Amino acid sequence: MTLRALHDAARGTLDPVHYDYVAGGAGEERVLADNERAFDRYALLPRVLRGSEDRDTAVDLPGARRAAPVVVAPTAFHRLMHPDGERATARAAAAEGAVLVTGTAATTAVDAVVAAARETAPDPAVWFQLYPHPRREVTEALVRRAEKAGCTALVVTVDSPVFGRHTRDLRNGFTDLPPGYAAENMRDLPGAPPGSLTDILMSPALSWRDFGAIARMTSLPVLVKGVLHPADARLAVEHGAAGVIVSNHGGRQCDAVPAALDCLPAVARAVAGRVPVLLDGGVRRGSDVAVALALGAAAVGVGRPVVWGLAAEGEAGVRAVLATLREEYDHTLALCGGRRNTDLTKDMVVRKGETW
Ligand code: FNR
Repeated sequence: MTLRALHDAARGTLDPVHYDYVAGGAGEERVLADNERAFDRYALLPRVLRGSEDRDTAVDLPGARRAAPVVVAPTAFHRLMHPDGERATARAAAAEGAVLVTGTAATTAVDAVVAAARETAPDPAVWFQLYPHPRREVTEALVRRAEKAGCTALVVTVDSPVFGRHTRDLRNGFTDLPPGYAAENMRDLPGAPPGSLTDILMSPALSWRDFGAIARMTSLPVLVKGVLHPADARLAVEHGAAGVIVSNHGGRQCDAVPAALDCLPAVARAVAGRVPVLLDGGVRRGSDVAVALALGAAAVGVGRPVVWGLAAEGEAGVRAVLATLREEYDHTLALCGGRRNTDLTKDMVVRKGETW
């Protein structure tokens, strides 16, 4: 099944309110649309007569050796999309050799997510995405929970000082999880009675010092997610980030920012190879992966396509999304005369209409 077909199938099965929650973005959804359109503004400029039968698309990422170049970006509430929820996503990612980023807003506790991944592969890479809590002890408890579960890296999301205004959710009145679902990692945290949940809270007062404190709190590598400005990419590295994820949260936060892809080249220049740079937002086909890698990304994240796969067909649907992207990307790499990801270089992408 193509990604488009999985999307259509998901749309057919999901409650329309839940469909809108995933599909939608902030404001007028300009950034949401631009993330995908940005890829249309680029073309690949292949090299010829230098390819190979043996191509290697694996990449070493923090806490993930020889991973697929397509990472499962953190998306909330998988049990709302399919009864098998995050467990299915975890098994699929492990089977496809892709890093799974689970996180604060998962509807399955992180230890169960890692256990599900381990049922499928001996050494899966599961990263934990953290919304830092205004109370330091809550953040620290989440870090310990992720470490204990066996996560191999943390991802601190920094583009959410306040909640995004999701137009469709506001219209639909979708402001809370239905009964029977919860952000399970927020259960039984310090200062709260046993069994109770602590709210996911945003804090506009978080600073690079707080980020540095998280990085020092753990021996796990800590990536920063949601960087668009090259100066912030530099600060991230200075404060101990093990990786920088260029992302505008899939157009769900500020509806006046550039497409994520358009921010990638300047961030890659600022980071200058000191840590890996990842990109998410709008990746929908293997050639999008190739464009992002040529522009300086070590790997890309995919958000919505994975959720569509999950909603449509559970574990098999997520596997289909990851396998399709991997095969399309490998095919594109071959067509561009590449053997490995690093063969895709900046000179091999051009702005459409601007070739010489
Ligand atoms: C997200 N995203 C997200 N990011 C994050 O750091 N923590 C989270 O809990 C969530 N939750 C979430 C839910 C849903 C339904 C979506 C669609 C997205 C953002 C996500 O990690 C990623 O940045 C974008 O989804 C990438 O864009 P695409 O691939 O969806 O275009």
